[in-house]
Amino acid sequence: MDTLDQFNRPLRDLRISVTDRCNFRCTYCMPAEIFGEKYQFLQKQKILTFEEITRLTRIIAGLGAVKIRLTGGEPLVRQSLETLVAGLSQTAGVADIAMTTNAFLLPEKAALLKQAGLQRITVSLDTLDDAIFQQMNGGRSDVASVLRGIQAAVDVGFAPIKINCVVQRGVNDATLVDMARYCRENGHILRLIEYMDVGTRNGWEMAHVVSAREMLERIHAVFPLERVARNYAEETALRFRYLDGGGELGVIASVTQPFCRNCSRLRLSPEGSIYTCLFATQGTDLKTPLRDGATDAELADIVRGVWHERTDRYSEERTTESAAGREKIEMYYIGG
Ligand code: GTP
Ligand code: 5AD
Ligand code: SF4
Ligand code: SF4
Repeated sequence: MDTLDQFNRPLRDLRISVTDRCNFRCTYCMPAEIFGEKYQFLQKQKILTFEEITRLTRIIAGLGAVKIRLTGGEPLVRQSLETLVAGLSQTAGVADIAMTTNAFLLPEKAALLKQAGLQRITVSLDTLDDAIFQQMNGGRSDVASVLRGIQAAVDVGFAPIKINCVVQRGVNDATLVDMARYCRENGHILRLIEYMDVGTRNGWEMAHVVSAREMLERIHAVFPLERVARNYAEETALRFRYLDGGGELGVIASVTQPFCRNCSRLRLSPEGSIYTCLFATQGTDLKTPLRDGATDAELADIVRGVWHERTDRYSEERTTESAAGREKIEMYYIGG
């Protein structure tokens, strides 16, 4: 029996943020002026161990969450992440394990992750222009390092790789077509993402958003596209294919065409709280009962109860009064 929320949405995906840390400082996520040397990240004893994450995953998979995505911060800065992947890939009910990464550490990690059972990789890369890239990520890396990471993943057999590109007007929107060309030539699936008002620290304004429609028009003018059906109902991306057979592209229109109606995603924070929306104000603590000796059945009851009460649909309410000024959790904490 499906676990359904107040809008009859089943629980299908679990997004696990394994750390609040990251080796980059993207201006829209962890701006360096806030996340500097003195910033206090979570202490080790506060974050869930791999055993704890695996146990909670088994319980939540039992409620229907068959798809797992590892996020962060940057998941690969958590030591020996492959050990967690190995545990999750042995977990009953888990059918798909993916990871979203900035790729910097993939040259040393790709083979270990593949062996451990990771099935899919999505890389965040917003532009191929090095000056813009460095400006966007706080000067912590360069495009060549990310491309090396992507190549390392390809070399050990991850295919196709998805490339997440968050588009901001006046920042990287002029480099869209170059991204499309690079992805087409290399067999990657580009996913153009509308810039969202996640968290409270990125100074988001509607004027910074480039709509999916505009992004598609710009690409279509150079590489003609046609729409294709969704792979599955809960998919975030609208899919398109190049008419010349050059592969596939997705747009994630969470601002102009929200997809809350089919949102089946539950998020687990590094500290062991669950959140029913990317824009949630409050989570529900599972770590305390877990460490106090709760049984699997008791933990399952908590999650079932939280999901059952769920009414989130922030992206559909964004422009309404009830959404204005709402406190929100930060993206680096809850995962993309
Ligand atoms: P697949 O399993 O490959 O379909 O991946 P996905 O689309 O779930 O994965 P991914 O994490 O790459 O999502 C891409 C982007 O979509 C994220 O970086 C976010 O910007 C956005 N996104 C993902 N989930 C949500 C969500 O629940 N709500 C909103 N508003 N945006 C989301
Ligand atoms: N809007 C849209 N996507 C975002 N991401 C981070 N911040 C935002 C935002 N404000 C995406 C990143 C990455 C994933 C972790 O979340 O590009 O792919
Ligand atoms: Fe790190 Fe990803 Fe946030 Fe950039 S968007 S700071 S790579 S977690
Ligand atoms: Fe799901 Fe919240 Fe995103 Fe809507 S805004 S799709 S409810 S996570």
